[in-house]
Amino acid sequence: MMYNLSDTDRAWVNETWEKLDKKLKTVSERSRNKIPYTAVNGVHNDMAKEDVTWWTNGFWAGLMWLMYVDTRDGRYRETAERAEQLLDAAFDEYDKLHHDVGFMWLLSSGANYRITGNKKSRLRVLYAADTLMARYNAEGKFIRSWNGDDNKGWVIIDSMMNIPLLYMSGAEHDDPRYRYVAENHADTLLRTHIRDDGSVNHIVNLDLKTGEVIESIGGQGYKTGSSWSRGQSWAVYGYVLSYIRTGKQIYLDTAKKVAHYFIAAVAATDYVPRSDFRAPDETIIDTTAGACAACGLIEIANNVGEYERKMYLDAALKILKSLEKYCDFTDDNDSVLQMGTEAYPRERGRHIPIIYGDYFFAEALYKLRGNDLLFW
Ligand code: GLY
Repeated sequence: MMYNLSDTDRAWVNETWEKLDKKLKTVSERSRNKIPYTAVNGVHNDMAKEDVTWWTNGFWAGLMWLMYVDTRDGRYRETAERAEQLLDAAFDEYDKLHHDVGFMWLLSSGANYRITGNKKSRLRVLYAADTLMARYNAEGKFIRSWNGDDNKGWVIIDSMMNIPLLYMSGAEHDDPRYRYVAENHADTLLRTHIRDDGSVNHIVNLDLKTGEVIESIGGQGYKTGSSWSRGQSWAVYGYVLSYIRTGKQIYLDTAKKVAHYFIAAVAATDYVPRSDFRAPDETIIDTTAGACAACGLIEIANNVGEYERKMYLDAALKILKSLEKYCDFTDDNDSVLQMGTEAYPRERGRHIPIIYGDYFFAEALYKLRGNDLLFW
């Protein structure tokens, strides 16, 4: 897709990408044998050692593949392939796996297979997808998110980013069961997670037999009924992805509705999202929510009519330009985007670099440079 950007915006996208590429070429070699989640004093940690089943463990490989597609620099490919191999150990811990197998294997093996046709990567995707299928509750019509006896009915909005694994696997198998499960899940969350005003619930506990709402839980937001900004981003991007993979109009309309709320909320803070749009402490921000939302807004722009496109693209650019102020493009720090926040309620994990911030910031620029291959 070639975007109709102004000369100034195009120059900004290209210059920012070049800074990213220059830095990541160095970091890709320095962190080759790690799966980073965050950086402590500028040095990537290593989730391959700390917890190989951690939900973010696909983002590093995904970031490397984004850079590879645009630059064709073999250093990126080597690091991405290494991270994918390290991730294999997670399959041996099946009892610890969760619904985030989509995040984990779409961006690692899924990207590898889409780019290179690697047959082993394809099998990893199919295997991971079947673990997600196995979490489906056919009576309640939802995919359970986590493990544990007390939360069999818990579903989180983040799951909308995992179900593209089912669309991919269903297409590979040419088997409609995968899309059926993904659509039922997405349809359930329209009813249980998306609020009338365009904000979303993070966690909802659903009845195992009927799928009816038992209670909504605040989760990573301030409290029940508040508006956790990254949850909003998962809904914006997740629903437009479901639209892209199914063509169902209600998914695009939902992505737009949540996007309108998100855009209105970030406009109040110079396009840098607060961690929760309805929390008392307005100084807690989450740059990762902005980066993810920008990707969703660009995909909405790609899927609406030509006279509507600009408002979504402009909002994405405003967010990305505001986030640039939080980027560290020096080689001294392994991470790029600073000031991500894991969760509003916790002291730990506020205003730290998080790997998905780097991933989504890069993915947004990758799209704006005209790269069409979608990893989701
Ligand atoms: N999926 C968990 C999070 O967004 O932090």
